[in-house]
Amino acid sequence: MAQAVTPVEINRIAVISPLDFSRENAYLAKKGMAMTKEDLYQEVSAEILSVIDGEPSVTARYASAACLLSQKFDYFFWTGFYVVDPVKENELVVGPYQGTLGCLRIPFGRGVCGTAAQSLTTQLVPDVHAFPGHIACDSRSNSEIVVPVYTEDGQLASVLDVDSTEYNSFDEVDQKHLEDICSKLLIGATQA
Ligand code: SME
Repeated sequence: MAQAVTPVEINRIAVISPLDFSRENAYLAKKGMAMTKEDLYQEVSAEILSVIDGEPSVTARYASAACLLSQKFDYFFWTGFYVVDPVKENELVVGPYQGTLGCLRIPFGRGVCGTAAQSLTTQLVPDVHAFPGHIACDSRSNSEIVVPVYTEDGQLASVLDVDSTEYNSFDEVDQKHLEDICSKLLIGATQA
């Protein structure tokens, strides 16, 4: 017989995803065992680090991180990397991603990704429509977070862009963990 979910458990579920939560987590919630967003980040960070361990290819690392992050969180509608173009100055070109078709190129300073690349700071955007110059690759995106990714010697390599169809999807928990993952993503990578 199904047990009642207490308000405390409902609260724990609510932080996992503003959109929905997985069937497995709903089941766990009923038993008072639902995973918090913190828990999910701890898990996915360990998964990413384990998968990329010893992998020289930067592309393989980006692709694996985009896949694992996108699979872990229901509200990650578009998850991927815009890479600093090695040929064109001050331009990002789309890299590995999961989601609907992304724009191919973004100049530094344009939109949320370009702003993150130019300012070298994480952009936490609760409403993309209120962000000056936001680039709408998919009109369903309503909030996003963009985190710079650096090479081991401190050069900007790319930005991680995560979009959600809901407003206000990202907070300081996402920022803390995504920045942590990005800070480790290229350590030991030796080839493009
Ligand atoms: N929203 C981004 C563009 C990239 S896509 O959403 C995939 C921006 O304004 O930088």
